[in-house]
Amino acid sequence: MTVLPDDFLDNTLRARRKLVEAILEKGMGPSIDCDLVRSSYLLSPMVATYGSAGLNIAPFMVSYLVKESCMAEALEKLRDIERKYWGKGFEAVKAGLSFVLDYVYNEDCVDPLAMVSHVMTKGHTWRNIIETGEATLGILIPPDVAAYEIRTTAQIVEQGSIYEYVNLVHDLMHVIPEGERSHPWYPAVVFRVREIYDNSYQKLGSRIYP
Ligand SMILES: Cc1cc2nc3c(=O)[nH]c(=O)nc-3n(C[C@H](O)[C@H](O)[C@H](O)COP(=O)(O)O)c2cc1C
Repeated sequence: MTVLPDDFLDNTLRARRKLVEAILEKGMGPSIDCDLVRSSYLLSPMVATYGSAGLNIAPFMVSYLVKESCMAEALEKLRDIERKYWGKGFEAVKAGLSFVLDYVYNEDCVDPLAMVSHVMTKGHTWRNIIETGEATLGILIPPDVAAYEIRTTAQIVEQGSIYEYVNLVHDLMHVIPEGERSHPWYPAVVFRVREIYDNSYQKLGSRIYP
């Protein structure tokens, strides 16, 4: 298997890791807020699909799947955080961020070729993915650091370890700290990377993977 280019990993997975490290080190504040805004497209890429719902594009919060060899341990850790930190505010956020560093942004554990999200509504994206099994993710690193077009095979997953993993990772930040189930679990979607193009003005759409 071709290895993902270092530049690409630096601008995506490793940049996300640095952001989490900075939040743990400095806490939230104006400088982190600014970094978060700058990272919007990295954390929530635009997802383009096609099918009977039309040619569509919508932002989705995206994370990464861990490798199968890490999945059982990661799930156990997630369940443990839920048990110990339910409703514990920033303590829960810190436990969640540490999990993310130990598993999701740990290159020994993560599968950077498997990106994940969840689908909160059976709208255009859901319908198109069910029909075609394809999606392209667009990531811009502003102002013009990088721009990636990530072509994927997309699959909706409604049960099993991937479904549990995606929903628990989402709960880490959006449910466990508050201690209130503000929304149900949703179908997961796995984007398996097939091709990556560098759409920066220097590379003008060159393929960088595979
Ligand atoms: C920053 C941002 C992140 C979003 N993340 C998600 C997400 O993770 N899952 C989801 O179902 N919708 C998410 N949405 C909403 C979708 O983009 C979209 O509104 C919804 O899926 C319906 O669009 P569609 O019918 O084109 O699929 C997000 C919206 C924004 C602005």
